[in-house]
Amino acid sequence: MRIRKEPDETLMIWSDSPAETEELGKILGGILQPGDLFFLSGDLGSGKTLFVRGVTLGLASTEAATSPTFALIHRYEGKLPLYHLDLYRLSSAAELIPLDLEELCQEEAAMMIEWGEPAKEVLASTYMEVVFTRGEEEEQRVLTFHPEGERYRQINHLLGVELEKTATGK
Ligand SMILES: Nc1ncnc2c1ncn2[C@@H]1O[C@H](COP(=O)(O)OP(=O)(O)O)[C@@H](O)[C@H]1O
Ligand SMILES: [Mg+2]
Repeated sequence: MRIRKEPDETLMIWSDSPAETEELGKILGGILQPGDLFFLSGDLGSGKTLFVRGVTLGLASTEAATSPTFALIHRYEGKLPLYHLDLYRLSSAAELIPLDLEELCQEEAAMMIEWGEPAKEVLASTYMEVVFTRGEEEEQRVLTFHPEGERYRQINHLLGVELEKTATGK
């Protein structure tokens, strides 16, 4: 894993394997707090779900995240409950209404949303947007963490600290 902090407080992380992406999620899982909201964007196969799987490992969830095939939403129970949404199959924004996302956001839980553009308007104005892109190598992915709001700038800071510890073997 290679990490670069940008002057605008964006954090860029290069993952060189599926295991590294999972490990990154796991480390993030140790930092998450109730109310944290993440939007994950990027092409199919860019590693979003694998990253969420790592987060569930970090939260010591009773099951590890997988791609939801039918349900738009799944709740994982762990040190902190995690809502994982994949809105790829959403056909209209109206389908979001019964999920009552605003209500879920008030719960003592964290939330990660793949293909979340339609949910953005109804949710908080502060969040982390993580953009996943493919790198030069077959197994390389570049994750860019764009923080919106103080809490998310803090998460980037904490993530930087944790990753440096891992890199130096402390
Ligand atoms: N560095 C990497 N990080 C994450 N996934 C990777 C990486 N290299 C290869 N892959 C592969 O890419 C795929 C990512 O799948 P998935 O996490 O379901 O993507 P998404 O949810 O973005 O559609 C998996 O098959 C995984 O093995
Ligand atoms: Mg996915």
